[in-house]
Amino acid sequence: MDIYAHRGSSGTHPENTISAFREAARLQVTGVEFDVHMTKDGELVVIHDERIDRTSNGNGFVKDMTLEELRGFDFGSWFSSDFKGEPIPTLQEVLDIFSTTHHHLNIEVKSDIFPYDGMVEKVVKAVAMMNLDARVVISSFDHGAIRRVKQLAPQLETAALFMESLVNPLNYLRSIPADALHLFLPAAVRPFARGVLDEKVKVRVFTVNEEKHAEALLTVGITAIFTDFPEKIMAFLQTKS
Ligand code: G3P
Ligand code: MG
Repeated sequence: MDIYAHRGSSGTHPENTISAFREAARLQVTGVEFDVHMTKDGELVVIHDERIDRTSNGNGFVKDMTLEELRGFDFGSWFSSDFKGEPIPTLQEVLDIFSTTHHHLNIEVKSDIFPYDGMVEKVVKAVAMMNLDARVVISSFDHGAIRRVKQLAPQLETAALFMESLVNPLNYLRSIPADALHLFLPAAVRPFARGVLDEKVKVRVFTVNEEKHAEALLTVGITAIFTDFPEKIMAFLQTKS
């Protein structure tokens, strides 16, 4: 079962920061997941929430600030004073960290609340410029964004994010179209997930921080998990193989 560092190594470092990504890049995990929003001046930045309040010393929406304005805030101190002054990363800075590693990159397009006009095009272009197509999967709760990715770059792997079970998951995935299913943990242990796996569709599950859940998903045959504690979960799973 593959392991992805969720928002970087976000259990031990402030989520979606350069520190969290450098830590993930040091580990022999399969990949890393991170979230992308767009600034007022059209720059792609890596942050989970629409607002900066929870993970910085500022407040307001990413969409209402320029990159220069966002760079004035501290995205590390909320987690620990050891990370004081961490800037918000751009997508390009995160791609740069992994350009020479083996890691797969799951770019989550956070356009499900605000549509961010032109964001998908920019993400696809940034990936192509770095020759990272073969190591990238683009996911979103905004399934229209996933459809757009396939129109622009059919060779890119895409994944539809879901919080719940689906009545006919394969038909739905094909209708988007999307290549893989990224599922919320409680939905992943239901029988329908097994049916998707039987059809050779990849199922990756978020967010798996407890060893007992990782073990249960390993038993089901889940393709990959996203975890905030990749080093710990990797060590645990190595004892199971
Ligand atoms: O991409 C998997 C997972 O990150 C989706 O949920 O809210 O953590 O971005 P969220
Ligand atoms: Mg995410």
